[in-house]
Amino acid sequence: MKHFSSLLLAAAGLSLVEPWAQAQLSGRVGPTTNRAAKAAKKMCNIMNYGGVASATTDNSAALTAAWNACKGGGEVYIPSGSYGLSSWVTLSGGSGVSINLEGVIYRITSATAGGTMIGITSTTDFEFYSGNSKGAIQGYGYLLNAKGANSGPRLVRLTKVTNFSFHDIALVDAPEFFLVMDTCANGEVYNSIIRGGSEGGLDGIDVWGQNIWIHDIEVTNKDECVTVKSPAHNILVESIYCNWSGGSAMGSLGANTDISDIYYRNVYSQNCNQMYMIKSWGGSGTVKNVKLENFWGHSNAYSLDLNAYWTSMTQAAGSGVSYQNITFSAWKGTNANGAQRGSVQVLCPSGVPCTGITIQDVNIWTESGSIEKEVCQNAYGTGACLKGGSGGTYTTTVTRTTTSNYAIQTMPNEIKAWGLGTAIPIPAIPTSFFPGLRPISALMAASGSANNNNGGGSVSTTPAANPAPTTTKASSGSGGVQSQYGQCGGSGYSGPTACAAPYACSTANAYYAQCL
Ligand SMILES: *[C@@H]1O[C@H](CO)[C@@H](O)[C@H](O)[C@H]1NC(C)=O
Ligand SMILES: *[C@@H]1O[C@H](CO)[C@@H](O)[C@H](O)[C@H]1NC(C)=O
Ligand SMILES: *[C@@H]1O[C@H](CO)[C@@H](O)[C@H](O)[C@H]1NC(C)=O
Repeated sequence: MKHFSSLLLAAAGLSLVEPWAQAQLSGRVGPTTNRAAKAAKKMCNIMNYGGVASATTDNSAALTAAWNACKGGGEVYIPSGSYGLSSWVTLSGGSGVSINLEGVIYRITSATAGGTMIGITSTTDFEFYSGNSKGAIQGYGYLLNAKGANSGPRLVRLTKVTNFSFHDIALVDAPEFFLVMDTCANGEVYNSIIRGGSEGGLDGIDVWGQNIWIHDIEVTNKDECVTVKSPAHNILVESIYCNWSGGSAMGSLGANTDISDIYYRNVYSQNCNQMYMIKSWGGSGTVKNVKLENFWGHSNAYSLDLNAYWTSMTQAAGSGVSYQNITFSAWKGTNANGAQRGSVQVLCPSGVPCTGITIQDVNIWTESGSIEKEVCQNAYGTGACLKGGSGGTYTTTVTRTTTSNYAIQTMPNEIKAWGLGTAIPIPAIPTSFFPGLRPISALMAASGSANNNNGGGSVSTTPAANPAPTTTKASSGSGGVQSQYGQCGGSGYSGPTACAAPYACSTANAYYAQCL
């Protein structure tokens, strides 16, 4: 359907618009050549480089050798099966290379060194994916964390990687962080699940860099869900399920903070510490042009939380980060105890009051008791307990006794958090990451690589990245048709509103409608 409709659009002479054109991204994201082209150039199956399909045999040398053979252009292939890792690998200097992880990589449990199990550095035109959507990395963190060690390796870190994607992979039970993107650019991360133990220190996705689109991700941990750190510009995060997580955040921010143009939408959080938290203590620099839209949740401790006095971090030099032009809109659901923590907390530095803060259509009601607290301090703008204007220090606490319009649709299978005592099974990649929404791109397992724009080569003139949206959005107001899973409506959306047959435009909420 996808190819058919994109060909139709092309035939009709309609220009195709990249998905970033409608959001806060600054350019195209994803690899610049597709999987098929890489694989056609060279295949480096780790079995031909000394790989052994055993969860207790170290495959680090085989993986490194396969990478070195293909890093100038090709595909590193890890077939279905189990592969142990007891030394960590840093795969560096790639260009035009993919890794197709169809099997599962296991931390060999006697190997407990810190660092990162799989690091990718200084690489461009790169894709890390699972062609059968069954690829996973199992860190067996519980063996370390149950002993209170709370340390060990992180699973995956991309450092100075550009024009890349990461998708269809399960990251399971990391001893420390799951996926870190350090100073990366033009990336797309999607259709993946992260599942870890219920304790702090197990960050899900941490990202800093430029022009990165993260969508359709589920995170179960008890720390950062999808979190932006400084410096970061043009980051779009959407369709995120924070399930028994710390919740999504920005921070911790210290001296010389430099963050702008960050947009989160369609974020679902349950049993988290917060729905979104911006955190700093002292520090300097700026956070500006941020939009946090359509957040739904329940049973979270905090909901909307900007805290410039976050004492869990070391106080940074400076009189405070300057927060400017931050909009929170369309938040719904419930929190655990509205009198205790409250639905709105905006605590700005006394030395640098926040300006241009907008809180609109935020309707969170309490699950216990009958009041909901809002606290604003040195924060200027409109909505909730904010003051108009821009100068001076103040603190206002408002107590509400009713909220209407807070009901939300919840996600299926919300069961309790993992303890630390047992191995976490490798989950399947979910087929929804926000109530009522399907993933923006079909899973690899559902589309099949031959069917996917990135791998199939049947749409060879279109850019390789962003399988579904790249080729399916017509230009604004041109009246084209949207294909399956594409967006067809919602506030701020200006693409086609008609769906290709046999799909119909289904409204998920005021901000998003999709062809289903
Ligand atoms: C990344 O892709 C863009 C095109 O989108 C290109 O201009 C740029 O040179 C690429 N970067 C690298 C390091 O190849
Ligand atoms: C505020 O940020 C939004 C993006 O969230 C941007 O579109 C708008 O131009 C910014 N306003 C100003 C005055 O910079
Ligand atoms: C949410 O997390 C719990 C605990 O890890 C897990 O059992 C459950 O399956 C997750 N829910 C979904 C929809 O994956």
